[in-house]
Amino acid sequence: MAATRGDAPPVFEQLRWTAPGAELALLSGQPAACLAPGDDALVRSGRALFGAPTLLGGQAAKAGLSCASCHINGRGNPHFLLAGVSASPGTADVTNSFFSAVRGNARFDPVVIPDLAMPGKISRDPDTRALEPFIRNLVVEEFGGQEPTPATLEALAAYVRAVRPCTSERTAARGLDDQLGALDDGIAGAQLMIGRGDRQGAALSIAAMRHQLGLIAERYAGRGFARERGALLTASRELRAIGEISDPARFAAALDRWKVAFDKGAAKRLRRAEERSLYDTGHLAQSLR
Ligand code: HEC
Repeated sequence: MAATRGDAPPVFEQLRWTAPGAELALLSGQPAACLAPGDDALVRSGRALFGAPTLLGGQAAKAGLSCASCHINGRGNPHFLLAGVSASPGTADVTNSFFSAVRGNARFDPVVIPDLAMPGKISRDPDTRALEPFIRNLVVEEFGGQEPTPATLEALAAYVRAVRPCTSERTAARGLDDQLGALDDGIAGAQLMIGRGDRQGAALSIAAMRHQLGLIAERYAGRGFARERGALLTASRELRAIGEISDPARFAAALDRWKVAFDKGAAKRLRRAEERSLYDTGHLAQSLR
C-alpha cells in the first residue's frame, strides 16, 4: 500500500500521468460526476470496476492506471500526460504498444481523451450493444488485460451509458467522500458479481476497493497519521481474506460485516482527521512544494 512510511514525503500514484505544473489541480479537483437518475447496482458495479487498475493488464495495471485515470468520473482528464502515450496534456494513444504488444499499431497517434458523457464514435444505445465488444477489445487488446466476464462487461457498459454531462458545476473538489463512495460501489459490485456466480468479477471488485483504500492512505501521509494508515492496512488485509472465501453466502456475509465494522471504525477515524489530511487543499499544496 502506498505511503505507509510515516516520514516519507507523500507519494501520489496519479502524478505518474499528470502534466508537470498540474499536480495541485489534478489532486484537488475533478470533472463533476453526473449519472442518469436512479440507484442501479449494475451502474455502481461498473463504476467500481472502471476504477480498478487490475481490470487492465500489463503496463497499465502496473502503473496503477485504470479507465478512470483517463476518464475521471467518466469524463476526460485535461491533465493526463504520460510519456510515449500522450502528445500534449489531455491526450492519449490507446493503440500504443506501451500498453499492449498485441494491438500496438506502431504509429504514434494520440487524440484528446473524450468525455464519455458526450455522444461519440461508439453508440450508447443499449439495443445495439456496441459498447460491450468495444470495451472488451479495449481491455484485452489495447491494454492486454484478462478476458472480462459477461457480467463485468455488462456493468462497465451500463456505467458508461449512465454518464451524463452536468448541468451546473463543471468541476468538483476532491475529498474523502469520493473514496468512501467508491468503496460502497465496490461492495455493491462484489455482491452483484458473487450473486451471479462470477468469481472473477467479484475478485476485481475487491481489488477495486483495495485500490481505493490505497488512494486514501496517500492522503494520510506523515507522522500524525500512523493510526489511520494502520486502520487502512488492516481493512485492506481483511478484504483480501474475504476475496479468498469460496462459498458465495459466506463471502456476502463477510463483506457485509466488513462494511459495518469499517463504517464504525476506520471511516469515522478518517473523517475526524480529514481536515488535517492531504484531502485539505492547503495541506496538499504545502506538501507539493
Ligand atoms: C490512457 C488513457 C485511456 C484509458 C486508460 C482508457 N481510455 Fe477510453 N479512450 C481514450 C481515448 C484517447 C479515446 C479516444 C480514442 C479514439 O477516438 O480513437 C477513448 C475512447 C473511449 C470510448 C469511446 C468514446 C466514443 O467516441 O464513443 C469509450 C466508451 C471508452 N474510451 C471507455 C473506456 C473504458 C471502459 C476504459 C477502461 C477499460 C477506458 N476507456 C480506458 C483514453 C483512455
